[in-house]
Amino acid sequence: MRTLGIETSCDETAIGVVDDGARLIASIVSSQVQMHAEYGGVVPELASRKHVEAMIPVLDEALSAAGCGLAGLDAIAVTYGPGLSGALLVGVNFAKALAFSLGLPLVPVNHLEGHVYAAWLHTGPPDPTDPEDKGPRFPSLVLIVSGGHSDIVLMEGHGRYQRLGQTVDDAAGEAFDKVGRLLGLGFPGGPAIDRLAAEHGRAKTLRLPRARLDGEYDFSFSGLKTKVQRIVRGEEGDSPEAAELAAAFQESVVDSLVTKALAAAANSGAREIILAGGVAANSELRRVLAERSPVPVVVPPPDLCTDNGAMIAACAHYRFAAGDVAPLSLDIDPALKIG
Ligand code: KG4
Ligand code: ZN
Repeated sequence: MRTLGIETSCDETAIGVVDDGARLIASIVSSQVQMHAEYGGVVPELASRKHVEAMIPVLDEALSAAGCGLAGLDAIAVTYGPGLSGALLVGVNFAKALAFSLGLPLVPVNHLEGHVYAAWLHTGPPDPTDPEDKGPRFPSLVLIVSGGHSDIVLMEGHGRYQRLGQTVDDAAGEAFDKVGRLLGLGFPGGPAIDRLAAEHGRAKTLRLPRARLDGEYDFSFSGLKTKVQRIVRGEEGDSPEAAELAAAFQESVVDSLVTKALAAAANSGAREIILAGGVAANSELRRVLAERSPVPVVVPPPDLCTDNGAMIAACAHYRFAAGDVAPLSLDIDPALKIG
């Protein structure tokens, strides 16, 4: 079954083509990041307009990379939430038009669930001769860390999620972006902090605090951001080099994420950990989680961690198998959650 996945929830116009939920055939991502960088963050109205402009060229490119035409598709999948309303509307309406004109099923996908399914793309096609070999093993502990979310979710099977923890204030990616701005690194801050921290290396002298919270698996990053702000403004004595501050900030975020994910995995009997979402592209998070985890860690390659259409198509395969097909009246759900 060949599925086309459409993703427009934020600032990426992305279309992927995936066979049987696991074989990556094509993934084209048109990023608007340069346009938004000028404003220091994503401007919703501009994002929607850019999606309108990019949609058809991205579709053409995805089909030509896949080596098939529209007639070679079996289903149309689309992100219907969470995300920016105007941006989601462009993708959902485009998907409806395609599904209607081609007479194909329209499969609605939760963006957060889509991020999780990047893990299946990474593990490759299932081996039909091996009943165990269907991608990651359940129960899996999933750490979803993106620009808008930081969730710890127990995945008991396809489509079966239990949310164990979440951020009480900023999402991990949001914290990276805000601190990136404080350090004058532009937007988005995540990749820039990752690079700058790597320059500093692991010889650290500065240690920033980790938030202590009542919720065992909840996160908080806004206090850390305020601490960095005070240091940058010289309110905490002599300011360290930006690279040292970036490394200390990153270390604190990574330590919180990894410590809580590992505790949740141990207490829930998870057989493995899946790292998902844009922040999963962070080199230090990938390294530390793999180093400290007693169970296998599944981490998609960086370009499948950040927003893409292939993860939406991969997820849709399992949603479709479970009977999830949307009517052509499908609405968006900007505040959709997982678990
Ligand atoms: O999943 P994603 O592409 O979009 C959302 O669904 O939000 O995540 C984007 C977030 C941004 O906050 C960006 O700064 C962060 O992921 N990010 C990173 C890295 N690459 C992207 N954060 C830390 N290190 C990275 N290498
Ligand atoms: Zn995302």
